[in-house]
Amino acid sequence: MKDLVAVILAAGQGTRMYSGLPKVLHSVAGQPMLDHVLEAIEALEPSRIFVVTGFMADKVHEHVGNRATCVDQPRRLGTAHAVRMVVPNLESFKGNVIITVGDTPLIRTDTLRELIKRRRAHNVAAAVLTTELENPAGYGRIVRNRDGTVRKIVEEKDTNVYEAAIKEINTGIYVFDCQKLLTALKRVGNKNAQREYYLTDTIEILGKINEETEPVVADDSTETIGVNSREELARAESILRRRIAYSVMDQGVTVIDPSTIYIDKQVHIGRDSVIHPFTMIQGQCEIGERSEIGPHAHITNSRIGSACSLRFCCVDHAELGNNITVGPYASVRPGTKIRDNARIGTFVEVTRSDIGNATDILHLSYIGDAQIGKDVSIGAASVTVNFDGVKKNRTRIGDGVFLGSKTTMVAPLDIEPGARFAHNASLTGRVRAGGAQTPPSGIQKKKTRKPRA
Ligand code: UD1
Ligand code: CA
Repeated sequence: MKDLVAVILAAGQGTRMYSGLPKVLHSVAGQPMLDHVLEAIEALEPSRIFVVTGFMADKVHEHVGNRATCVDQPRRLGTAHAVRMVVPNLESFKGNVIITVGDTPLIRTDTLRELIKRRRAHNVAAAVLTTELENPAGYGRIVRNRDGTVRKIVEEKDTNVYEAAIKEINTGIYVFDCQKLLTALKRVGNKNAQREYYLTDTIEILGKINEETEPVVADDSTETIGVNSREELARAESILRRRIAYSVMDQGVTVIDPSTIYIDKQVHIGRDSVIHPFTMIQGQCEIGERSEIGPHAHITNSRIGSACSLRFCCVDHAELGNNITVGPYASVRPGTKIRDNARIGTFVEVTRSDIGNATDILHLSYIGDAQIGKDVSIGAASVTVNFDGVKKNRTRIGDGVFLGSKTTMVAPLDIEPGARFAHNASLTGRVRAGGAQTPPSGIQKKKTRKPRA
């Protein structure tokens, strides 16, 4: 939309969060509130997006990067004062300005689009998104004219008893005709309970010069929750999680119990996969079709193929092919690649390793810094000894190798394809298929570390 500019207010500290972090950087469903708002706005393709920053502005700037223009509000004197910071950029702009607070992470693009449409269609000075709440505490109240337009918005601290009883509240999201907004902003004063310049006052000011404001009621009042405390943060979290669970189901995924799973927004899951209870899937994750995830799986920033089964396990920054089983009780750590048809079993930890096709590591093993070929079988309680006290060394195991229980793989180690060992072998250096072993070349003597001062 060429005739649209967006302003996101994010200068506040969020006093009631009792936090060292700016409020808008607190996360909901795995990403900062500000990102949720930015995403909803970006989908409208406005010609420019401004974010008003103040408390820990540098941190917010850094986070926003080039997604928007950050404008500083050196002193937080209220929401109208915050918008004034952007005015120099709006002087000659003739279109729509959408203004939203940065602490409403659940807002949907479609709702914003409807707000813009309604302002345009009825050619009013402003459209304000409202909703009805059983308990309107903390929000500004919408006072309507007889004809249904908005007469004014009264902040809770400034309400009389009649106004306090109003259940229709201001969501903090508006679309203005830009030039009319600028006119009204000039007249906003701070004679109110909080001695702040309220953006909400622009509505009454516009009314006094015969400019109308249309209320647009959001049907889903959960969408407009403003987060001012940790309790509200947790509420927003559970609503968004549930929303994500339903959207995952809409894509053909079975979710056994949406109330016990935690899936981040960026996660993509293929159809006919099943998400079992007590499962967290966080960060950038991709899961194929027909995979069974959980119960009790914690997956972060990983790619999982199709027809996999992951039960009672952690998988972090890893890449898994198709038809793989992991767990129960397994940990797949960063830098691990597991190829098709491999099985990682009970009490097995794998890190920084490449596990070949149809390889089995089924019981009580630690595999670190290893490159393991296909059709390898690693017996119970086998471990790589990858750390010599100074550095990590690599283990290479060729295709078709069989290692019995309790094999100790002392790296650097290179086992030729087809080698077979019974239980209790301790292997190091270069190991040939026939069984003969050459000592490792270049094992370094442990360097003595300087004693700590
Ligand atoms: C605001 C509205 C209220 C509405 C509610 C919806 C005003 C006066 N009140 O109240 O009617 O019901 O949102 O959630 O607008 N901010 C700045 N600079 C400032 C002050 C605030 O950038 O000087 C930012 C904050 O970072 C925050 C947003 O504006 O993201 C809203 O501020 P907040 O203090 O949370 O306002 P509310 O009291 O919730
Ligand atoms: Ca708020």
